[in-house]
Amino acid sequence: MAEKNDATIPTGNADFQWSAFDSEAYFQQYYGEPHPDDDRITRLAANALKHALPEGRDLEIVDVGTGPNLIPFLCALPRARRLTAWEFSRSNIDWLKAELQQDALRSQWLHFWEEVRGTYEADAALPDNPLPALRGKYDITQGSIFDLPRGAWDAATMFFCAESITARQDEFEAACAAFAGAVRRGGTLAAAFLVRSEVYVVADRPFPVLKLSPEAIENAFRGLATNVRADLIGIVDREIRSGYSGCLFLTGEAV
Ligand SMILES: C[S@@+](CC[C@H](N)C(=O)[O-])C[C@H]1O[C@@H](n2cnc3c(N)ncnc32)[C@H](O)[C@@H]1O
Repeated sequence: MAEKNDATIPTGNADFQWSAFDSEAYFQQYYGEPHPDDDRITRLAANALKHALPEGRDLEIVDVGTGPNLIPFLCALPRARRLTAWEFSRSNIDWLKAELQQDALRSQWLHFWEEVRGTYEADAALPDNPLPALRGKYDITQGSIFDLPRGAWDAATMFFCAESITARQDEFEAACAAFAGAVRRGGTLAAAFLVRSEVYVVADRPFPVLKLSPEAIENAFRGLATNVRADLIGIVDREIRSGYSGCLFLTGEAV
């Protein structure tokens, strides 16, 4: 039998049906039982935003490729004048809106909120329940990472997006550049990336990942950010969850 031509193997962002992303299955699979790695990511992201410049000022903060995940909003809430989720998939947008319209947050989000509170500590008097403060502060925008406006926000977060929406190096680099370019010069960037993953499966549907070493991830931010810091989290030789066996958390300031 003839080998499949490379050109027919789906690898690019447009080759996948993001509108069919099963948001609730993803939530249950990745956040149903909070993992210590997610606690660490939450603390690192909250800490980066806690120290985002200018300190003491409320910021316009965007999260890119938010998916079925409230951690970015929770981490940014104490510093945010306005929060934006910039997400491509219709199903994830609908899920996010429904999740934020519930009367109460699920226990998993309250768990991550405690990590955020522990990170901000006495620097902010944070309520037990973040939902009232979240309400009225957020926008959910349907858009592609490749179409982000330039310099529109003070800070940006991104959890498992640039490398988890494509298996193509050129698209990964373009996504990182668009992410970093979305904040003003000196604005805080904080992002988590899968390390050495190749695919993740949600409700039996495979989605693409670009297989990256920690060095390759840092290299992508050369010329995009200064004061780059990279923390390796987990990194084991088995899958903890589909496609996840550890990650790199990167912070920096946009140039
Ligand atoms: C692996 S999921 C990560 C979800 C979430 N940020 C998390 O940390 O669990 C990748 C996300 O990127 C979104 N996505 C796919 N293509 C995109 C694009 N072109 N621009 C922005 N987001 C996109 C997907 O819909 C999905 O929400």
